[in-house]
Amino acid sequence: MLTSTTLFESDRYLLHPLHHPSDHAAPLMLVEGRGVMVKDADGREYIDALAGLWNVLVGHGRVELAQAAAEQMKTLAYCSSYVGLSNAPAAALAARLAGFAYPNLHTTFFTCGGAEANESAFKTARCYWKLKGKPNKVKIISRWHAYHGVTLAAMSATGMANYWKMFEPRVPHFIQIPAPYPYRFEGARDGESVGAAAARMLEEAIQSEGADTVAAFIAEPVMGAGGVIVPPDDYFPRVREICDKYEVLFIADEVITGFGRTGKWFGLQHWNVQPDIMSFAKGITSGYLPLGGMQISDEIRDTLLSAPPDSRWMHAYTYSAHPTCCAVALKNLDLLERENLVARAATMGAYLQSQLQSFYDFDCVGEVRGLGLMAAVEFVKDRQTKSPAHIGERVLRAARERGVICRVRGDVLLLAPPLIITEAEVDRLVVALREAIREVMK
Ligand SMILES: Cc1ncc(COP(=O)(O)O)c(C=O)c1O
Repeated sequence: MLTSTTLFESDRYLLHPLHHPSDHAAPLMLVEGRGVMVKDADGREYIDALAGLWNVLVGHGRVELAQAAAEQMKTLAYCSSYVGLSNAPAAALAARLAGFAYPNLHTTFFTCGGAEANESAFKTARCYWKLKGKPNKVKIISRWHAYHGVTLAAMSATGMANYWKMFEPRVPHFIQIPAPYPYRFEGARDGESVGAAAARMLEEAIQSEGADTVAAFIAEPVMGAGGVIVPPDDYFPRVREICDKYEVLFIADEVITGFGRTGKWFGLQHWNVQPDIMSFAKGITSGYLPLGGMQISDEIRDTLLSAPPDSRWMHAYTYSAHPTCCAVALKNLDLLERENLVARAATMGAYLQSQLQSFYDFDCVGEVRGLGLMAAVEFVKDRQTKSPAHIGERVLRAARERGVICRVRGDVLLLAPPLIITEAEVDRLVVALREAIREVMK
């Protein structure tokens, strides 16, 4: 029988993401989940306040998703989707996604996760420009604080230097610019809004690199792992104009914001902006199986499809369009629609934000922010100078002792519970977090 002791014994053989023994002295071994709650090997319950890694939108323990997987596995275990072959769930899912996120995106390529989706987007952008007779358009511009995954090219787009340090050199031709981070933005001119200034920095980067060398700009509609950074309303419309002006493709990384997390189905819908390529993952299966992908504009699709065979889009993964993952995604979309979970993310997100406002009672809380069911609490030592408080990790530990699992980036506490969360569960979460902050501050 598996006891918690034997489980921990076996865990010694696992190299975890971001591994270091100093952070793994007392790992949490989760064994079960229902709704927004998860249980550890000793029977303790926790609120899963980041929905796994932002992904478990419909909550834990959904039998319909398990059944969809079992039925597909019994019917057809695997099928390559390399050109010349296809499978029914993948075709059905691609058809369902055609025009679903944005009216100009009808064509989907599937991956296993977010980094692969972004790798695919970067390669597709380069391929597109080669086919357009502009082979020098290869550079990718991203933003500081961005998280786009950590495979080598995705890592090079990720704008957090601690992810690079031990893996340098990065892939060449990746460039970072400032993010529209209202709480800490510097560099706006007199009378210029943060959104306009941050967009101007994109234009300046394109000009200084040379528009004929830039393939694409990539951005999360709301930055997730970097600190739930919500852009001002004027940012993305201006970014779209700049990308059009300089013929730079706009890649929206909707790995977190896709499928309802922000209270709309997709993040850029908040600003009525369409990308040329959208990467997605996480929420498409609510994390029940690994699936991601990218959608490309009709213009990019037409260009790829009219290439001569020896200039084809030579890109592939063994598990692209895996039938079981696609079957689960289809059922997950049914659940999101049937239970109106996107609208729910908007109303419960507003409720969470309203409850978190009470945290301003603590002097160490510099800002509470968010959109839909993505929220952050940023701690500071001093509200005037916004100097770092260095308490994020301690708040995280204190929260865990009070039955809450979430994550921090430095001094920013990140929250993104499953979309099914109830008001009572939000209340419980907020009380536990308030007690955790009080404990750390005493
Ligand atoms: C916005 C964003 N893009 C890409 C990724 C990378 O996804 P994966 O870990 O599935 O490679 C993540 C993961 O958190 C993400 O948040």
